[in-house]
Amino acid sequence: MVEYDKDAIVYPYITEYLRNETPKHDGFLKDLEEYAEKNSVPIVQPETAQLLSVLCAIKRPLRILEVGCAIGYSSILMSEFLSDGGTITTLEWDADTAQIARENIKKAGLSDVINVICNDAKEVLPTLTAEYDIVFLDGPKAHYIYMLNDCIRLLKKGGLLIADNVLYKGMTADDEHVIRRKITIVKRLRRFISAQMQRKELKTVLLPLGDGVTVAVKI
Ligand SMILES: C[S@@+](CC[C@H](N)C(=O)[O-])C[C@H]1O[C@@H](n2cnc3c(N)ncnc32)[C@H](O)[C@@H]1O
Repeated sequence: MVEYDKDAIVYPYITEYLRNETPKHDGFLKDLEEYAEKNSVPIVQPETAQLLSVLCAIKRPLRILEVGCAIGYSSILMSEFLSDGGTITTLEWDADTAQIARENIKKAGLSDVINVICNDAKEVLPTLTAEYDIVFLDGPKAHYIYMLNDCIRLLKKGGLLIADNVLYKGMTADDEHVIRRKITIVKRLRRFISAQMQRKELKTVLLPLGDGVTVAVKI
């Protein structure tokens, strides 16, 4: 039996089916999943990890930008699909967490590939100038809306903007599910989703996968 998040956004039997069908990781990624579980580190859910792998495998990115590194799990996952010479820049504001990520990246032999910048993404994003094939937003949910312009600016044409947790345990979709202290995050996530859908530079789909994911392509 799959252990369910009680706040899963689809019926538990659907999640169970998806998880049973999705190939499991082994080796270092599995170790990181176990570490995350044991230490309550929020990493991407298995279905979302699989979506990231598929999108990266299609795109074969040269440059990925990630907002929200945590212990480096999703960066290490995505690195498998980089083009030759490809790199990942990942942002993490918590110094201890960034240090753990760097150690994990070193253990994975990826120190030359994945660069962890330890700073507030809100400050770093406006300073970046490179163009990215994929931007993965998995940091401060309440600030996605304020990061959208920079994300679009930093994406190559044809590049993908992927944002996790946008349905936020279902709260984004329905007022009745909103916990009072989360109302600001929820309102901003709704604005973020609407803004992506309405931006002429983007073609966006909202997927009820994991905790809700938007995938947008810059056109
Ligand atoms: C959901 S976790 C990222 C998980 C990671 N992407 C994975 O799947 O392996 C979100 C991370 O974003 C970091 N974070 C939150 N706000 C941030 C900010 N303003 N700037 C940079 N990092 C931030 C948190 O410290 C946390 O480690």
